[in-house]
Parts: sequence; C-alpha cells; structure tokens
Amino acid sequence: MKIVIGSDHAAFTLKAFLIDHMRKKGIEEILDIGTETESLPCDYPDIAFRLGEMVVQRKADKGVLLCGTGVGMSIAANKIPGVYAAHCHEPETARMSRRHNNANVLTMGARVLSPELAAEILDAWLESDFEGERHLRRLSKISDYEQKICPSCSLSEKGKTIVFDHPLVQHKVSIIRDKNTSVKEFRELVQEIAGLMVYEITRNLPLEKIQVETPLAVTEAYALEGKKLAIIPVLRAGLGMVDGILQLVPNAKVGHIGLYRDPETLMPVEYYCKLPGDIAERDILILDPMLATGGSASAAISLVKSKGGKKVSLVCIIAAPEGVSKVHGEHPDVDIYTAALDSHLNDHGYIVPGLGDAGDRLFGTK
Ligand code: RB5
Repeated sequence: MKIVIGSDHAAFTLKAFLIDHMRKKGIEEILDIGTETESLPCDYPDIAFRLGEMVVQRKADKGVLLCGTGVGMSIAANKIPGVYAAHCHEPETARMSRRHNNANVLTMGARVLSPELAAEILDAWLESDFEGERHLRRLSKISDYEQKICPSCSLSEKGKTIVFDHPLVQHKVSIIRDKNTSVKEFRELVQEIAGLMVYEITRNLPLEKIQVETPLAVTEAYALEGKKLAIIPVLRAGLGMVDGILQLVPNAKVGHIGLYRDPETLMPVEYYCKLPGDIAERDILILDPMLATGGSASAAISLVKSKGGKKVSLVCIIAAPEGVSKVHGEHPDVDIYTAALDSHLNDHGYIVPGLGDAGDRLFGTK
C-alpha cells in the first residue's frame, strides 16, 4: 500500500510522528509531500490540492492530510473531483468512512488530537475496506454529480460509472421494469433507451471542420472525425440495443460476441466472436442490458481487448453494484454507462428489483 501524507506547519510534528508510526507498522511506501518545517508558515490548500491530485491520479492508494484542526485540509481536498476526504476525530468515524464512503483521503487536526489518538484513527482507517454494494450506488450519485457540473474536469484515468438520470430514460426504464409490459413494447423501449443513452455517450466524439455548399453559400460545418464507433452486443440480450443505436449512428460497425456460462465451472465460455477488422481504431461500446455478476461483461471486455480493442466502454440498462465492482476491478480503464444502478443480486444472480431476464423479455421466450 502506497500512502501519501502532507501537512502544513501546524501539523508538521504530527506528520513526523505518523510517518514513524506507519513505518513501524510495516508500511514501506510513504510519500511525504511536505511541509518541511514548522517554523515557516505555509498554506494548507497548496498541500491539499497537490496530495488530492496524486490520489486521484493513482500515484498513491490513499492520502493523509494534517493541519491545525484538519478542517481546512478537508475543505480544500474535497474540491478535487474524485477526492473523498473524511475529517475524523475518533476511530469509528474513520472506519465507517472507509466501509461506507470509500474515503480515499483522511484529514486530522494536530491541535485537537493527541498524537496517539491520531495514530489510532489512522490505523482504523487504513485497516478498513470499502463494502461496496448499496454504498456504491450512493457514491455513484456523488461522482455523477461531479460529472454533471464539470464533465471535463476529471483528473482520473480510471473508468467511471455513469448513471443516466435523464427523465425520459428514467420514465422508459420504469415501463420495462413492469412485469405486465408486453414483449413488443419492451423491445421498442429497450431500443429507445439505448438510443437516448448513446446520444449522451457520444457527446465528446471528436469533430473535424468541413466545407459544405448549401443552396445559398459555401459554409464551414463539422463532421465526425476519423474512425468512429464500433458497437458490440453480447448475445443475445445485447442485440436488443443495436437498432436504437444504429438509428443515431448509422455508420457504426457492429461486432458480435457470444458467451455462455459453463454449468460446471460457472465461468463464461466464448462460442462466437466476430469483430470489425479496424477495432483498434474505434471507440467501442459493448452492449449488454443487464450487468449482474459482471462475469460475462468482464469476459466480453477481455475478449475485445485481446483482439486489439483499446477504447472500450460498457453500456447496460440495469446494473447491480456487484457487477460494477467486478468490471471495474478487472478493467479499471472501462467506463460503465447504465440507465439504473439497482440494489443487489438475489441468490440466483438476478438483479433486484431489476426487470427479470432481459433476453426472455426481448424475445418472448418465457
Ligand atoms: C493554521 O494556523 C491553521 O489555520 C491551519 O492549520 C488549519 O487548522 C486550517 O484549517
């Protein structure tokens, strides 16, 4: 585990104490980003921003920020998208800030805590792990908000989970969840949802300037630049999303991946894979309406990467926190787009509340 630690002058001594404490605990990789002395006052935001950016850019696993009260450090660090700084006075809050909030930065105050209590808080924080599941859904709401107010200000190279809160998407998802919705309506709505989602997903596709002659004049206009999209449905339910996307992006190339689950090992096994030849140059959207355990989605992503795919995203309609964790655990570079992030999986691996088996509901096989 790599820890980055920083303080202002007010907490210089506590920083030295905690570095020594962590070394004694066997933590070898400790990056001390200053300050270097207590006799020269410095400004806590400078240290907080530097450390926060390092954590978001994965130059360290976690960060510890110290100042007089810890308050200034937490306010400054929490301005950075992707920083979840927890300001703690006692061990239980520190523990819960990892388990429930996945805090990646701990802030403490040298003027309000004894060094021993600060060390106890630090130990509790470092020894606790994020529990995922329902907490992931709540954290996604925070990262979605960050994304909404500043789509381009993420410092992270890590894949994001983007949950679509657009009212039209939410309305249509409610109808496909309803068990009384007919196969015909279900199929139409899945296509519509996929189309609405891709409209937003493609927001940052690069454009090039072109010249167009209108009936009145020659004018500058824009066209999509270079090789564009490849969409890859995972058979069979992913097929239900293809036409909705092709209506908006008719030149997208379409690949297909077939996977089944081995009844003995429960591992996904490939039975079909046909991808566009220029897959390495395209933005790739893998389509699978339900992200449940994440086993087949993750295998599909591995397969696409093994064939040269580089810029891969996963588009689903309903995701479970377990599937999101699995995909991001195995493919931290892949963005996941979903119209809903549900509560959990049941004992049979179905998403709850979900919508049942998307393949059966699309093709009327049950
Ligand atoms: C420095 O005197 C002090 O203001 C600072 O360390 C911190 O407590 C701010 O929140």
